[in-house]
Amino acid sequence: MSPEPPPARPFVLISAAMSVDGHIDDATEARLMLSTAEDFDRVDALRAQSDAVLVGAGTLRADDPRLEVRDAARREARLARGLTEHPLKVALAGHGGLAPELRLWHSGGAKLVLAPDAAVPGLRASLGGLAEVVGTGAGLDAARVLDELAARGVRRLMVEGGGAIQSLFLTAGLVDEIQLAVAPFFVGEASAPRFAPPAARAFPQDATHRMTLLGAQTLGDVVVLRYAARREDASLVTQADLDWMRVAIDLSRQCPPSETAYSVGAVVVAADGTEIARGFSREGGDDKAHAEESALGKIDPSDPRLRTATIYSTLEPCSVRASRPSPCAELIRTAGIGRVVLAWREPALFVADCQGVELLEAAGATVLETPSLAEEARAVNAHLVNPN
Ligand SMILES: NC(=O)c1ccc[n+]([C@@H]2O[C@H](COP(=O)([O-])OP(=O)(O)OC[C@H]3O[C@@H](n4cnc5c(N)ncnc54)[C@H](OP(=O)(O)O)[C@@H]3O)[C@@H](O)[C@H]2O)c1
Ligand SMILES: [Zn+2]
Repeated sequence: MSPEPPPARPFVLISAAMSVDGHIDDATEARLMLSTAEDFDRVDALRAQSDAVLVGAGTLRADDPRLEVRDAARREARLARGLTEHPLKVALAGHGGLAPELRLWHSGGAKLVLAPDAAVPGLRASLGGLAEVVGTGAGLDAARVLDELAARGVRRLMVEGGGAIQSLFLTAGLVDEIQLAVAPFFVGEASAPRFAPPAARAFPQDATHRMTLLGAQTLGDVVVLRYAARREDASLVTQADLDWMRVAIDLSRQCPPSETAYSVGAVVVAADGTEIARGFSREGGDDKAHAEESALGKIDPSDPRLRTATIYSTLEPCSVRASRPSPCAELIRTAGIGRVVLAWREPALFVADCQGVELLEAAGATVLETPSLAEEARAVNAHLVNPN
């Protein structure tokens, strides 16, 4: 009997708005309006695409947000996909307390408060049944928060601030993407909160490690910058891995178009760096064929190179499949391939529980990701994953 694989950590997106001088608020009590209506709508769409949204206690006290999906059509679309109307709303708290009057507790969606154990009794006493309050041990760190959320089925997390919480996730190296809206004015106050303020730990995304700019979008007078924030672990993912993943992404562009299924590319490469086989979704007119399946189907199962081979797939291999007896994660395991590199994990929104990574890891495979190429792999499927 194999043990239950631990759930994979969620994809983490930081969404924030700042002034051109880097402030996320001014020094006054009132909330500073940084965004335009169009930009708020973009943020609403991001919320609707998330399994959970998260803020720190400081933001709850300062801004009293509801963190709901505002657009009715987006809420309906979530319901139609079998999701809750609103994502799970998560608050990170310390010892400063949270008032029961806050709007978060009295608006839609399930509410979860994560706090150090010592703060839990106080929070439970003041919040009563308004939110579930869970202790995270002596302190509260980002990895622990993600593990807690993963155990609750969260695959895509949107971090909505404030500054301390941005830095908490960024310095832990656990942020996949940042979407930063820049408003065209200065705040110019030294005491005003700023984006990702200096923290106890160093930022891995510092000047020596430039992030990947994914795009810049103009919404009225606001510019939205999108960055891939997570770096490949250079000790594990090599330049050759990135080059092969680019080959797989090119393959995914050859898939016959589909309105309902992903376009994926896969390549199996031997330890000596030579290609063994390649495949893509719906290859050869089989509209059920998956890329990994197609590539593996071209290989003699007794090929001795398989044991030390790497399979590159632009998407996380599937773990459940209605159309075939074995999902791709199972096919990879059976083939004996011990190293799997993927570019993109699909959000839980579309497959309730893809556990390809968990299955492969439980079977002893090393699974690596190439976050810097995730956006390229995703973009091939943009028509499926941006159903606004
Ligand atoms: N423009 C934007 O995009 C945007 C978005 C959100 C917020 N904001 C602004 O950001 C400001 C609030 O930011 P903030 O930095 O004061 O608060 P914050 O990041 O929202 O929350 C910080 C609080 O989280 C709790 N916490 C729990 N564990 C923590 C840990 N390991 N590290 C740090 N904090 C932890 C602590 O609560 P306790 O106090 O209970 O100990 C801490 O005070 C407000 O001015 C708000 O308007 C702007
Ligand atoms: Zn598959």
